[in-house]
Amino acid sequence: MKSSPDVEFIGRPVDRIDGPLKVTGRATYAYEHAIDDVAYGYILGAAIAKGRIAEIDISDAEKAPGVVGVMTHRNAPLQPDFGPAVTPTVREVFTRARPALNSDRVRYYDEPVALVVADTFEAARAAAGLIRVRYEEETGTYDLQAHLDDAYAPRRTNAGLATDSVVGDFEGAFAQAPVKIDATYRTPFEHHNPMEPHATIAVWSGDELTIHTSAQTLANYRAGVASTLGMPPERVRIVSPFVGGGFGSKLIIHADTVLAALAARVLQRPVKIALTRQQMFANTGHRAEMIHQLRLGADTDGRLTGISHDVWSATSSFEEYCEQTAAFARSLYAAPNRLTRHRLVRLDINRGEWMRSPGEAPGMLAFECAMDELAERLGLDPIELRIRNEPTQDPERGVPFSTRNLVACMEEGARRFGWQGRDPVPGRTREGRKLIGYGMAAAIRPNYIGATTARVAIDRDGQVTARLDMTDIGTGTYTILTQIAAESLGLPLSSVKVELGDSLFPRTAGSGGSWGATSSGSALHQACSILKQRILEVARSSEASPFRGVNVSEANFAHGEVRVGERSARLSDLIRSIAPDGFEAEGSVAAANATESYKAYSQHSYGAHFAEVAVDCDTGEIRMRRFLAVIGAGRILNPKTARSQIIGGMSWGIGAALMEETVLDQRYGHFVNHDLAEYHVPVNADIAGMEVVFLEEHDDKANPLGAKGLGELGVCGAGAAVANAVYNATGVRVREFPITLDKVL
Ligand code: MOS
Repeated sequence: MKSSPDVEFIGRPVDRIDGPLKVTGRATYAYEHAIDDVAYGYILGAAIAKGRIAEIDISDAEKAPGVVGVMTHRNAPLQPDFGPAVTPTVREVFTRARPALNSDRVRYYDEPVALVVADTFEAARAAAGLIRVRYEEETGTYDLQAHLDDAYAPRRTNAGLATDSVVGDFEGAFAQAPVKIDATYRTPFEHHNPMEPHATIAVWSGDELTIHTSAQTLANYRAGVASTLGMPPERVRIVSPFVGGGFGSKLIIHADTVLAALAARVLQRPVKIALTRQQMFANTGHRAEMIHQLRLGADTDGRLTGISHDVWSATSSFEEYCEQTAAFARSLYAAPNRLTRHRLVRLDINRGEWMRSPGEAPGMLAFECAMDELAERLGLDPIELRIRNEPTQDPERGVPFSTRNLVACMEEGARRFGWQGRDPVPGRTREGRKLIGYGMAAAIRPNYIGATTARVAIDRDGQVTARLDMTDIGTGTYTILTQIAAESLGLPLSSVKVELGDSLFPRTAGSGGSWGATSSGSALHQACSILKQRILEVARSSEASPFRGVNVSEANFAHGEVRVGERSARLSDLIRSIAPDGFEAEGSVAAANATESYKAYSQHSYGAHFAEVAVDCDTGEIRMRRFLAVIGAGRILNPKTARSQIIGGMSWGIGAALMEETVLDQRYGHFVNHDLAEYHVPVNADIAGMEVVFLEEHDDKANPLGAKGLGELGVCGAGAAVANAVYNATGVRVREFPITLDKVL
């Protein structure tokens, strides 16, 4: 049964099912749905970061051509107060009301102060320019470094993790360690920018509301809209079949959704709103600026005696977001004495949000550079240092790992990359005017599963339809779910239709946290198993069935047939004869943290990154030459889509190491470089020789598929490998990201 291409689809590099729709323009995105009589909304944002609206004059805007309505805090429908900065539960972060235009307060720069709705987008935008606002401005706080004395310990970090972890006596061990590193790293504000902006069309029909939008998690959007508008979730339908990227900022609703829904109700007319690129920088969240203090103590053999990662992060004054930046360090390396702490400083900015690999992205960028510093101080190869500190069990939880192939990833990567050719002495490898450097870093990311249900139906023609409110944010969900259903039911891919992105379908955990594929895949796999059981039960008892009275426990579904021993039937013929209306089944998975397996095993995905850079010794320009990732993330459902996820993550690593930074104007609390011309991300020309290798792995503790999350794994440690390569090339250790050329000169 090894690798039979018409039976086994899981694990094959199947092309994207939705690819042709996307490249021919037939995939309809949120703003593009053709809705009759739709009006266009344009949001006006505040010109201050803190204060109140003293006067707002909309009279000229209301009279402008094409305008059908102007909404401000004075006439917007009543909404609940925003509420406390910290919700009682983690879940409520996603479901809480997010009112807009409900107060004269301005809490951050460019917060919506008015909405203009007009017959055209241009008319709405032009009229917004006619609104006059007088503000009473207050002095805001925008400087993390200057306010470290005001830092406080939050109740929890994102994902509900503990703010602090303490094992043994770190301070004592560090004081006595013969070899140590005490380094402070800085990671800047960063913004995520999916190509499709946040956009919504709201359509009311009586008291039923349909929201066409671009969402990662429909259940969160539905709950958020219902809370904000004060209506039962059952009357809110969220539709999001295609999503032009989502990196965490589409996990919760934003002003486009709330204001479109409110305006459509007031005007009795469908309303569409898209945030502009600049509005996204202000209004849809960011990764916060952070200061990291890394302290590593080791004995002279390179065995860590103490690990400490302290993080101070900016947060918003009205809604707390504490990225779990040091949480990965609780599982990565062995050491008897350990300390991780997260502290926050309130600034007058918008809330931070989940941004691709929240936690590990900034945390491992700093930590894995500090490991490189320690390796050098010990005179040890960076891989050898990590191997010497490989734990035999989760070092803080004291439970075994499910599968952990970090060492294998590093060794395989070293072999493929030619790591032994690296000169450990920095600044010594030259090619003409270029300094050449190699760097590596480890990667770890937790494996999550979120509560998810999937429904599958098969009709008399053997056509299968799978439905769930899951999204495909460009990751390949349509494709892998098609593979799972086809393989499970023994049908060709063409017999399976996967329908996603509609809250009428069973509820899923959506796309986020790298849990999408395994949560939805496991639920669908379960649904298909139940479907097969149902078919077999009827087949065994039905007069018309060739399997009447047969023990069907050994039945096999393959090649479009059901086979039990010597008997077989085409699946479609069988269904036609025993159940002309077909069959339907639902399958579910529980949230991982509710399962015994999750309590009993430390579940993570792993990887190792290897980067080669060339640095121009005259200009300091840093160019990527090669970038290799070796990944151990359980069973790979589709190596083509998985590879795309990892190289995407590696590109984020290059961005974090070398380019990405949003500058907060300390005078006005405004993100200055708020567009893609001035917020630099790596493009194709900045990337060279990306290679991804997946190790054979099957994690039977994670789920029945044996797969683990990998979407965000590619980012983890990737930036540190690049930064360590820059150090190896130049001998300049830059601890303030991004490593722009001025810092290495
Ligand atoms: Mo991801 S930052 O959890 O969408």
